[in-house]
Amino acid sequence: MAQIYRIDLEPIGRRIEVAGGTNLLEAAQQAGIDLVAACGGIGICGTCRIRLVTGQFSPVSLVEEEQLRPEELAAGYRLACQAEVHSDARVEIPPESLATTQRVQVEGQDVEIDLDPSVFPFDIELDPPGLNDLRSDLTRVNQALGEADYPPVRADLAVLEPFHSSYANTTGKHDCHPPGGSDYSSGRSTAGG
Ligand code: FES
Repeated sequence: MAQIYRIDLEPIGRRIEVAGGTNLLEAAQQAGIDLVAACGGIGICGTCRIRLVTGQFSPVSLVEEEQLRPEELAAGYRLACQAEVHSDARVEIPPESLATTQRVQVEGQDVEIDLDPSVFPFDIELDPPGLNDLRSDLTRVNQALGEADYPPVRADLAVLEPFHSSYANTTGKHDCHPPGGSDYSSGRSTAGG
Protein backbone atom coordinates (compact mmCIF):
# COMPACT_ATOMS: atom_id res chain seq x y z
CA MET A 1 0.00 0.00 0.00
CA ALA A 2 1.34 3.44 -0.96
CA GLN A 3 2.64 5.70 1.73
CA ILE A 4 0.35 8.65 2.48
CA TYR A 5 1.92 12.10 2.64
CA ARG A 6 0.56 15.40 3.89
CA ILE A 7 0.82 18.42 1.63
CA ASP A 8 0.20 21.89 3.05
CA LEU A 9 -0.99 24.28 0.39
CA GLU A 10 -0.45 27.98 0.85
CA PRO A 11 -1.77 30.63 0.85
CA ILE A 12 -5.15 28.90 0.71
CA GLY A 13 -4.46 27.14 4.00
CA ARG A 14 -5.41 23.64 2.92
CA ARG A 15 -3.79 20.35 3.89
CA ILE A 16 -4.36 17.38 1.65
CA GLU A 17 -3.32 13.76 2.01
CA VAL A 18 -1.75 12.22 -1.04
CA ALA A 19 -0.56 8.72 -1.85
CA GLY A 20 3.16 8.67 -2.63
CA GLY A 21 3.81 8.86 -6.37
CA THR A 22 0.60 10.79 -7.17
CA ASN A 23 1.12 13.89 -9.22
CA LEU A 24 0.24 17.05 -7.43
CA LEU A 25 -2.23 18.37 -10.00
CA GLU A 26 -4.39 15.27 -9.71
CA ALA A 27 -4.18 15.30 -5.93
CA ALA A 28 -5.14 18.96 -5.74
CA GLN A 29 -8.04 18.55 -8.15
CA GLN A 30 -9.34 15.55 -6.23
CA ALA A 31 -9.32 17.68 -3.10
CA GLY A 32 -11.35 20.38 -4.86
CA ILE A 33 -8.49 22.81 -5.32
CA ASP A 34 -8.88 24.49 -8.63
CA LEU A 35 -5.42 24.78 -10.16
CA VAL A 36 -5.25 26.16 -13.67
CA ALA A 37 -4.31 23.40 -16.09
CA ALA A 38 -4.86 24.80 -19.57
CA CYS A 39 -3.23 21.84 -21.36
CA GLY A 40 -5.02 19.24 -19.28
CA GLY A 41 -1.87 18.13 -17.51
CA ILE A 42 0.38 17.15 -20.38
CA GLY A 43 3.02 19.66 -19.43
CA ILE A 44 2.97 22.12 -22.30
CA CYS A 45 1.13 25.19 -20.96
CA GLY A 46 3.03 26.01 -17.78
CA THR A 47 -0.10 27.29 -16.10
CA CYS A 48 -0.04 24.85 -13.19
CA ARG A 49 3.21 26.09 -11.71
CA ILE A 50 3.61 25.87 -7.98
CA ARG A 51 6.58 26.32 -5.66
CA LEU A 52 7.88 23.55 -3.46
CA VAL A 53 8.83 25.22 -0.19
CA THR A 54 9.79 22.14 1.82
CA GLY A 55 9.63 18.43 1.05
CA GLN A 56 10.53 16.23 -1.84
CA PHE A 57 8.93 15.68 -5.22
CA SER A 58 10.08 13.56 -8.13
CA PRO A 59 13.13 14.91 -9.98
CA VAL A 60 12.53 17.82 -12.36
CA SER A 61 11.38 16.41 -15.68
CA LEU A 62 12.53 17.44 -19.15
CA VAL A 63 9.13 19.01 -19.73
CA GLU A 64 9.60 21.19 -16.66
CA GLU A 65 13.05 22.21 -17.80
CA GLU A 66 11.45 23.45 -21.00
CA GLN A 67 8.60 25.29 -19.33
CA LEU A 68 10.38 26.85 -16.39
CA ARG A 69 13.33 29.22 -16.43
CA PRO A 70 16.49 28.14 -14.60
CA GLU A 71 15.95 30.77 -11.91
CA GLU A 72 12.40 29.51 -11.35
CA LEU A 73 13.66 25.95 -11.00
CA ALA A 74 16.33 27.16 -8.58
CA ALA A 75 13.62 28.89 -6.55
CA GLY A 76 11.66 25.63 -6.26
CA TYR A 77 9.05 26.17 -8.95
CA ARG A 78 7.56 23.02 -10.44
CA LEU A 79 4.70 22.07 -12.69
CA ALA A 80 2.05 20.45 -10.53
CA CYS A 81 1.10 18.11 -13.36
CA GLN A 82 4.65 16.77 -13.53
CA ALA A 83 5.64 16.69 -9.88
CA GLU A 84 5.01 13.46 -8.01
CA VAL A 85 4.78 13.57 -4.26
CA HIS A 86 7.59 11.76 -2.46
CA SER A 87 7.29 13.17 1.07
CA ASP A 88 5.30 15.47 3.30
CA ALA A 89 5.62 18.90 1.77
CA ARG A 90 4.71 22.54 1.94
CA VAL A 91 3.69 24.06 -1.37
CA GLU A 92 3.00 27.63 -2.34
CA ILE A 93 0.48 28.25 -5.09
CA PRO A 94 1.01 31.55 -6.94
CA PRO A 95 -2.25 33.47 -7.50
CA GLU A 96 -2.02 33.04 -11.27
CA SER A 97 -2.07 29.25 -10.87
CA LEU A 98 -5.41 29.33 -9.09
CA ALA A 99 -8.68 29.38 -10.98
CA THR A 100 -10.53 32.68 -10.72
CA THR A 101 -12.87 31.86 -7.87
CA GLN A 102 -10.19 30.60 -5.55
CA ARG A 103 -7.89 33.41 -6.55
CA VAL A 104 -10.49 35.97 -5.60
CA GLN A 105 -10.79 34.32 -2.19
CA VAL A 106 -7.04 34.40 -1.61
CA GLU A 107 -6.47 37.89 -2.92
CA GLY A 108 -9.49 39.07 -1.00
CA GLN A 109 -7.70 38.12 2.20
CA ASP A 110 -4.81 40.45 1.44
CA VAL A 111 -6.40 43.65 2.62
CA GLU A 112 -4.48 46.33 4.42
CA ILE A 113 -6.28 47.66 7.44
CA ASP A 114 -5.39 50.83 9.29
CA LEU A 115 -5.62 49.91 12.93
CA ASP A 116 -7.57 52.32 15.06
CA PRO A 117 -7.76 50.74 18.52
CA SER A 118 -10.03 52.27 21.09
CA VAL A 119 -7.44 51.63 23.81
CA PHE A 120 -3.78 52.53 23.51
CA PRO A 121 -0.91 53.46 25.86
CA PHE A 122 -0.20 57.11 26.47
CA ASP A 123 2.35 58.63 28.85
CA ILE A 124 1.32 61.49 31.10
CA GLU A 125 3.30 63.19 33.81
CA LEU A 126 1.50 64.26 36.93
CA ASP A 127 2.84 66.46 39.67
CA PRO A 128 2.56 64.65 43.00
CA PRO A 129 -0.22 65.99 45.24
CA GLY A 130 0.76 68.35 48.02
CA LEU A 131 -0.60 70.99 50.33
CA ASN A 132 -0.47 73.51 47.52
CA ASP A 133 -2.16 71.22 45.04
CA LEU A 134 -5.27 69.49 46.33
CA ARG A 135 -6.74 68.47 43.01
CA SER A 136 -8.16 64.96 42.88
CA ASP A 137 -6.30 62.23 41.04
CA LEU A 138 -8.95 62.08 38.38
CA THR A 139 -8.81 65.83 37.89
CA ARG A 140 -5.04 65.61 37.47
CA VAL A 141 -5.38 62.84 34.89
CA ASN A 142 -8.08 64.66 32.97
CA GLN A 143 -6.20 67.93 32.94
CA ALA A 144 -3.10 66.15 31.62
CA LEU A 145 -5.21 64.44 28.97
CA GLY A 146 -6.87 67.73 28.06
CA GLU A 147 -3.45 69.34 27.52
CA ALA A 148 -2.77 66.59 25.00
CA ASP A 149 -6.16 67.16 23.32
CA TYR A 150 -7.73 63.99 24.65
CA PRO A 151 -11.22 63.97 26.12
CA PRO A 152 -11.68 63.42 29.84
CA VAL A 153 -12.12 59.92 31.19
CA ARG A 154 -14.22 58.48 33.99
CA ALA A 155 -12.91 56.01 36.51
CA ASP A 156 -14.39 54.55 39.65
CA LEU A 157 -12.74 54.24 43.04
CA ALA A 158 -11.42 50.71 42.50
CA VAL A 159 -9.34 52.04 39.63
CA LEU A 160 -8.17 55.22 41.31
CA GLU A 161 -7.02 53.71 44.60
CA PRO A 162 -4.08 51.64 43.31
CA PHE A 163 -3.34 54.37 40.80
CA HIS A 164 -3.05 56.94 43.56
CA SER A 165 -0.87 54.85 45.86
CA SER A 166 1.58 54.04 43.07
CA TYR A 167 2.05 57.53 41.71
CA ALA A 168 1.93 59.40 45.02
CA ASN A 169 5.18 57.64 45.92
CA THR A 170 6.96 58.34 42.66
CA THR A 171 7.82 61.30 40.48
CA GLY A 172 4.32 61.12 39.08
CA LYS A 173 5.15 59.70 35.63
CA HIS A 174 2.49 57.29 34.48
CA ASP A 175 1.30 55.23 31.59
CA CYS A 176 -2.33 55.83 30.87
CA HIS A 177 -4.51 54.00 28.34
CA PRO A 178 -7.08 56.59 27.57
CA PRO A 179 -9.86 57.71 25.29
CA GLY A 180 -11.95 55.64 23.00
CA GLY A 181 -14.70 54.74 25.41
CA SER A 182 -13.46 57.18 28.04
CA ASP A 183 -15.02 54.99 30.69
CA TYR A 184 -12.64 53.47 33.21
CA SER A 185 -15.05 51.54 35.28
CA SER A 186 -13.80 48.89 37.66
CA GLY A 187 -12.10 46.00 35.90
CA ARG A 188 -11.84 47.78 32.58
CA SER A 189 -9.33 50.46 33.30
CA THR A 190 -5.81 50.10 32.05
CA ALA A 191 -4.36 53.06 33.87
CA GLY A 192 -1.28 51.94 35.70
CA GLY A 193 2.25 52.80 36.81
S1 FES B 1 -1.33 21.62 -16.80
FE1 FES B 1 -0.26 22.41 -18.46
S2 FES B 1 1.75 22.31 -17.80
FE2 FES B 1 0.72 21.48 -16.15
